[in-house]
Amino acid sequence: MDTNEIILNWYDSEKRNLPWREPDKNKIDVYKVWISEIMLQQTTVMAVIPYFQKFITRFPNINILAESDIEEVLTYWAGLGYYSRARNLHKCSKQIVEKFNGDFPREAEILIKLPGIGDYTASAICAIGYNQHKVALDVNVKRVISRINNKHNLCNISIKKLAINILSEDRPGDFNEAIMDIGSKYCKSKFPKCSICPINKICKTFKYNKNALIEINKRKPIKEKIIKYGNCYLIKRKDDNKFLFIRRPSKGLLGGMLSFPSSLWVMDKKNIPSSKLFDDLITNESIKGPIHHTFSHFNLILNVYNIKIIDGVDIEGEWIELNKAKEQLPSLMKKVANLV
Ligand code: ADE
Repeated sequence: MDTNEIILNWYDSEKRNLPWREPDKNKIDVYKVWISEIMLQQTTVMAVIPYFQKFITRFPNINILAESDIEEVLTYWAGLGYYSRARNLHKCSKQIVEKFNGDFPREAEILIKLPGIGDYTASAICAIGYNQHKVALDVNVKRVISRINNKHNLCNISIKKLAINILSEDRPGDFNEAIMDIGSKYCKSKFPKCSICPINKICKTFKYNKNALIEINKRKPIKEKIIKYGNCYLIKRKDDNKFLFIRRPSKGLLGGMLSFPSSLWVMDKKNIPSSKLFDDLITNESIKGPIHHTFSHFNLILNVYNIKIIDGVDIEGEWIELNKAKEQLPSLMKKVANLV
């Protein structure tokens, strides 16, 4: 058996049953491939599954997605993080409807010019959606290909060449997904399960350089993240118990998401920018929290305050029932809502 026969035989019997995988290759829906690949960037398969299912039920095709409001799309993304993915997804759907009549282009060079589609996603759409001879190189695929070849310091272009050399001619899509599954189940970055890995017989690192795998288990020192501080305000209206929310600016962190009003987040905890409107209303009893939250580049400590507003104060924002708002909130703001 050659390399790709071993890989595809294993895939046929052991592949993960995932909701975006279509067993009948004649029925592959490129739209679903695209949605899943965007969701799977920076997010684990287990976390994506329920989001993918709800998203596809509400937006079953590109036309429905393109016609929807971005606020609603963001609601279905709330909790997945990296919200620019959802904004780009929405922009991309509009362009595909307007410029390509709703059909996904088949050429990677055209796909790559669309919002939110980079080299990885274009290759994944071409390979998995259109069964083209392409490799979608993410960190997991890179690791598996590097280890099979016992070449551990190559640039992406060289790893891609090695992958193309062993890529299946007739089932490139399945081959890509097989490597992804092997990377996730056996060829893990720390503690790879080489002794039970289905491709250990063709893995040159396993055969000639087991030390390279032991080295990987030695923990690198963890880089301390910077800490930022901010204030956040729970403002309840007396007459209908609704809370005040704002929509964050569309660019930047949590862009476009619903949020409780908050100060800027800064590194100097003694100089958190104050809010003229709310800070005067803070009393000892109003202190809730703080909330701790981790973003990819920093940790956040958010002081949370209950604010009783004086009747008639005109504040800009949306008044929404807490339970209704909760389903639209990003994870950080869900934590704040849970203090109520
Ligand atoms: N990670 C990224 N794309 C994936 C896919 N199609 N299947 C499983 N894991 C993935």
